[in-house]
Amino acid sequence: MDRLSDYLTSPISIVLLAVCGLAYVLHSRFSNNGALPDLPWVGKADDQLFAEARASIASFSNSRRWLNEGYTKYTKKGLSYIFPDFSGTPNVIIPREEIKWLIDHDDRGVSVSEMHHEQLEGAYIFTDPYLLERPFHEDVVHKALARKIGLLVPDVQDEMQNAMDDVFGLETEWREVCVFEAMMKVIARVSNRMFVGLPLCRNEEYLANASAFAQDIITDIALFSFIPKALKPLLAPILTIPNRKHYRGTAKHTLPLIHERLELMDRKARDPSLDWQEPNDYISWHINLARAENNVRELDPVLISRRLMPINFAAIHTTTFTITNALFDIVGSRSAADYLAGLEEEAHRVFAEEDGKWSKPGLAKLVRADSALKDSMRISGFMTRAISRKVTHRITNEKAGWSLEPGALVATDLYSVHMDSEIYPRPDEYDAFRFSRPREEFEQSQKEGKLNERSKDEVLRLKNTGLITTSETFLPFGHGRHACPGRFFVSTELKMLISHLVLNYEIEPLSERPPNKWFGPNVIPPMKQTIKVRRRKESAATNGTSH
Ligand code: HEM
Repeated sequence: MDRLSDYLTSPISIVLLAVCGLAYVLHSRFSNNGALPDLPWVGKADDQLFAEARASIASFSNSRRWLNEGYTKYTKKGLSYIFPDFSGTPNVIIPREEIKWLIDHDDRGVSVSEMHHEQLEGAYIFTDPYLLERPFHEDVVHKALARKIGLLVPDVQDEMQNAMDDVFGLETEWREVCVFEAMMKVIARVSNRMFVGLPLCRNEEYLANASAFAQDIITDIALFSFIPKALKPLLAPILTIPNRKHYRGTAKHTLPLIHERLELMDRKARDPSLDWQEPNDYISWHINLARAENNVRELDPVLISRRLMPINFAAIHTTTFTITNALFDIVGSRSAADYLAGLEEEAHRVFAEEDGKWSKPGLAKLVRADSALKDSMRISGFMTRAISRKVTHRITNEKAGWSLEPGALVATDLYSVHMDSEIYPRPDEYDAFRFSRPREEFEQSQKEGKLNERSKDEVLRLKNTGLITTSETFLPFGHGRHACPGRFFVSTELKMLISHLVLNYEIEPLSERPPNKWFGPNVIPPMKQTIKVRRRKESAATNGTSH
């Protein structure tokens, strides 16, 4: 955010923004929103001059109020409405009852990749437009990650413990740690253990460039939202100079690795007795899928090195925001001491049962850590809309009696659903054990033999209240066949991280939860806020692997 405000306050940016602001108003006013159906708007005063343009600019600071209004008046009653977006292209917001209708459409009629391409400025900011035009890296993650997650667990544990020791330290004195910065370092390293493996995932120059690139994307998306479409091709080459520099900073390290991997995988295919074990990381998954599909273009080492950029972007900021929010929700709660004690008790018990080595079934037992993360994602999500799609062929909502033409953007309002008291009682309250309490009570009744025939259904229902289960009422990872394929990894690494933290560190609760800030449709956690931690004496000696 500091870099963003530096950009925005430099004299060149001010002049540029003034020119763009004027062009933006005109562009928005006269752009063709004819693709929109005849639905009510929020935030637009029809009697005003330039009503749509004014509404889209005002949406930047009114998102929360207008989402509340839209929910009360329309989506809560099962009706759709139009939300003026800061980008200048309004969004049709559908109620949760219609999510199924939307996601059941063929990708050719309702496209998630076209939406990503548009929202993430795919034509300009990822160093090669082809990356988001044909997002092969998404296929790789969808096809490989869920299957490989069990095998990845020991690597994730090793990297997470090492990274946490480096960032939070081994000293048993109290020290202040900036949560966002610390988490960014840990998440960048752990994610890259999965993407590029050891030793590159610990290379500081590589990590600094990969993280800086992810930050460039966030800055660019914010800057590009001020720039009218017609000016983007002209300004993009200048504004994306840092992106190309940071990509080169990563490619310097990834290209030799990819060349070597291609060669070794070739040799192993020719000679299975070769004394070399294929690493379980993104690079291997990518090469294997490209070969299986006979996709020669995707075997180009430069293209593979470029694909690591959107993958890093998808993983680093999303996960860093999520764990930063979760830690503030836990330590900034009035019940912080109880939550920390409850999490520690669980981590201690399960870690002992697991003999100090996490496994997929072991991690599944961390129901409190799972719940602490899930309620944080519910109440402190960094996105307010979910299942954003671009319409590419006319679709009709027969039940409601309206159609969407090609070009229309459609989404659902996740914020209001997550804050609905009929779905989540006491929705304004962060309750770390909201989802684990019923599970633990059920397990207790099971132990006491108090269950009946209906209990089998209850087992299934409770299992589906976990973090990785998406639904129409829990949407931070989206829902349906395009739901985030990275969530299996997120749940593994973050549950492990929380357990490591409470087992090895004392944490001083905060007097209150530091507030998040709304920036248009996004909600950002405090990036400079610190917490006080000290290494537990008993774990300092054991280097954090046991308690
Ligand atoms: C807490 C962290 C994360 C959050 C909140 C998150 C959230 C999301 C959301 C909301 C979507 C869009 C789903 C939809 O449109 O229906 C998505 C898509 C995606 N995410 Fe994540 N994500 C996270 C971490 C990750 C990680 C670690 C990876 C990589 C390993 C990843 C890879 C992807 C990919 C490849 C897609 C595109 C899927 C598709 O379009 O089919 N994400 N994510």
